[in-house]
Amino acid sequence: MNLKQAAGIEAAKFVKDGMIVGLGTGSTAYYMVEEIGRRMREEGLNITGVTTSNATKEQAEKLGIPLKSIDEVPVVDLTIDGADEISKAFQGIKGGGAALLFEKIVATYSKQVIWIVDESKLVEQLGQFPLPVEVIPYGAQQLMRIFDEKGYQPVLRQTETGQIVKTDSGHYIIDLHLEVINDPEALATYLDQLVGVVEHGLFLNMVSKVVVGSAQGVSIIDSPHQK
Ligand code: 5RP
Repeated sequence: MNLKQAAGIEAAKFVKDGMIVGLGTGSTAYYMVEEIGRRMREEGLNITGVTTSNATKEQAEKLGIPLKSIDEVPVVDLTIDGADEISKAFQGIKGGGAALLFEKIVATYSKQVIWIVDESKLVEQLGQFPLPVEVIPYGAQQLMRIFDEKGYQPVLRQTETGQIVKTDSGHYIIDLHLEVINDPEALATYLDQLVGVVEHGLFLNMVSKVVVGSAQGVSIIDSPHQK
C-alpha cells in the first residue's frame, strides 16, 4: 500500500453513518472515496456525498454513493480532501488538481475538514509549491502582467499538449511561483480583492485534522483550527 492510500483509508474511518460528507479531489482523495465505497458495500455504511469536482463526481457515481450538491444540504458534517502543502501553522495550499474553487466552497460549509497527505506535503513555510489562482479568462493576461510586475513569476497553466487548462467552471489557473510565502493572510487578502480573480489556493484556518502517511505509518495531527 502506498502512503497516499494509507492516509486515505485511515481518514475514511472518521466517516460515520448518516453523515453528509464532502469528497475531495486528487490522487489521495481517490483512495478515501474508494474506501467509503467499500464500507458502503461491505459494512452497510450510509452517507450522502458532496463532491468537489467532476472527476470525483464520476468516481462516486460509479461506486453508487448518493450525492447532493452543496446547495441541497444545510451543512456538510465532514470534508476529507488532499492538499499540496501544509505548513507548521496548519495553513495549506490546494489546487494542484485545479479543483480549488469547489474544494474551498465545500470546506467553507463543513463542520470539520480533514486533509490527507503523504509526508512530503508537510513543510515549514508555504510557497515551494506554486500557488494556484483561479481567474476569469477575460482579463487573464492583465492579471498575468500584474503578477509578473510583483515578481510572482506567474505561469498560465497548460496541459502537456499546450492547451490552456480550464477548470470545471470554465476558468483559467495562474500558478504563482513564489518560493516562500511569509505572510499567507496578507497575500490572501491581496488576491481576494483583485478583479477577475475567482479564488486562490490559500486555505487558511480551515483544517481540523491532518492524516499523514509516512514510511513509519499513518499519524493523525490535530490542528488548532477547530471549527
Ligand atoms: C486538487 C487539490 C488536491 O487535493 C491536491 O492537489 C492534492 O492532490 P494529490 O492528492 O493528487 O497530491 O487541491 O485541486
